[in-house]
Amino acid sequence: METAQKLNDTAQTNPAARMAQEPETMNQRIPYPERTIGKPLCDDPKMSMRNVDVFYGDSQAIYGVDLDIGKNEVIALIGPSGCGKSTFLRCLNRMNDTIDICKVKGSFMLEQDNIYDPKLDVVELRARVGMVFQKPNPFPKSIYENVAYGPRLHGLANKKFELDEIVENSLRKAGLWDEVKDRLDQPGTGLSGGQQQRLCIARSIAVSPEVVLMDEPCSALDPIATAKIEELIDELSGQYTIAIVTHSMQQAARVSQRTAYFHLGRLIEVNDTNTVFTAPEHALTEAYITGRFG
Ligand SMILES: Nc1ncnc2c1ncn2[C@@H]1O[C@H](COP(=O)(O)OP(=O)(O)OP(=O)(O)O)[C@@H](O)[C@H]1O
Ligand SMILES: [Mg+2]
Repeated sequence: METAQKLNDTAQTNPAARMAQEPETMNQRIPYPERTIGKPLCDDPKMSMRNVDVFYGDSQAIYGVDLDIGKNEVIALIGPSGCGKSTFLRCLNRMNDTIDICKVKGSFMLEQDNIYDPKLDVVELRARVGMVFQKPNPFPKSIYENVAYGPRLHGLANKKFELDEIVENSLRKAGLWDEVKDRLDQPGTGLSGGQQQRLCIARSIAVSPEVVLMDEPCSALDPIATAKIEELIDELSGQYTIAIVTHSMQQAARVSQRTAYFHLGRLIEVNDTNTVFTAPEHALTEAYITGRFG
């Protein structure tokens, strides 16, 4: 909260923010740094990405990104629309494989495992690195079956009672159990938007992932549902590593320990969230957080 307040203060007191009238021209005048500013690497990474380039056909969407994601940290990916946040996030569990024209280059490690190893089972990878999307997307199945699907697919439960236990625990962790325990056989699609998103989180954690990727998980939700998801992220971060894309700087400030600022496919700056929002080192980061473009 304190960081969010400082963020507002920075926007109000920063003269550069006040005088910026022409975001596009300003944007073109600020050169990219030669390499990412701040601390893109960690001592104890859960995931390590190096020299990442991503192309859609002939057009390049990500340029030479190096980034580590620390164990049990929540890292926020922020930046103007179209800067490559979703593209980068999707590389981390090979969701870009499903886009024909998308070519991914560089090295992606999940601890000791090369994510792009042709021998790696992608279904297995997506159980280790789960994903929650912007728009809640429950399967057209019951609430119970939505959560049971992954554990069944991966053979995590032999007996019905074991599966029941996984479903209950996942729904509890997702803060949804009390609201749905009496209607587990009803369709997941019949829940409210915020409940559906928590159901999708329950579904992704049911297979005990190591990393959860979230692409603007609250952008379709009202403030109350958003607050619930943010609380949840906080609780889950004890157990999982989380990378969250968000357009809300207040949200990034509330939920993350580290923040990565992307700009037109370049990773400009990575630092402690507090530093990014109160004392950004690069002029592009500062311009973004003070509202000059985005
Ligand atoms: N499936 C695709 N085919 C072709 N180009 C794409 C595709 N997906 C993304 N792009 C392009 O790649 C660039 C990065 O897009 P991306 O969706 O990663 O940005 P983003 O930072 O997530 O934006 P937003 O905040 O609007 O979600 C953009 O120029 C976009 O047009
Ligand atoms: Mg996006």
